[in-house]
Amino acid sequence: MKLLIINGPNLNMLGIREPDIYGKENYTALIAYIEDICRDNKVECDIFQSNHEGAIVDRIQQAYFEGVDGIVINPAAYTHTSVAILDALKAVSIPSVEVHLSKVSEREDFRQVSYAGMACVKTYAGFGFEGYKMAVEFLMEYLGKKS
Ligand code: DQA
Repeated sequence: MKLLIINGPNLNMLGIREPDIYGKENYTALIAYIEDICRDNKVECDIFQSNHEGAIVDRIQQAYFEGVDGIVINPAAYTHTSVAILDALKAVSIPSVEVHLSKVSEREDFRQVSYAGMACVKTYAGFGFEGYKMAVEFLMEYLGKKS
């Protein structure tokens, strides 16, 4: 099983950006955390981060041609603005799970819309790094290949 993990803008600044909201651990720690989960579950994973909307759209499209089975996506701020990312997820029809480190439902009004979420089968928000673990495990179950 092949998963693609996508992280959007400013997530590369973890540990530096608003630690009260996003935690003190940095992006390298998040990558290590996700890689460990995938290794433990014998899942192949590719982790991609970009600050650019078009690059994220390109990566989603590429996933179709690579035969990616599932996508875990934290579109970060693009969650609340990007119809292009929503359309890309719909275009490839790859089962996708939305993750947010923070509990967006308890934050500002402008964060209450999730475009990407409209194309996702599940959302985990407010669980910090653990949300990525929950998303990988959910997709394994969803894709019917849990080992
Ligand atoms: C975020 C929540 C978004 O609203 C915000 O713009 C982010 C991170 C999260 O992981 O909690 O950059 O996606």
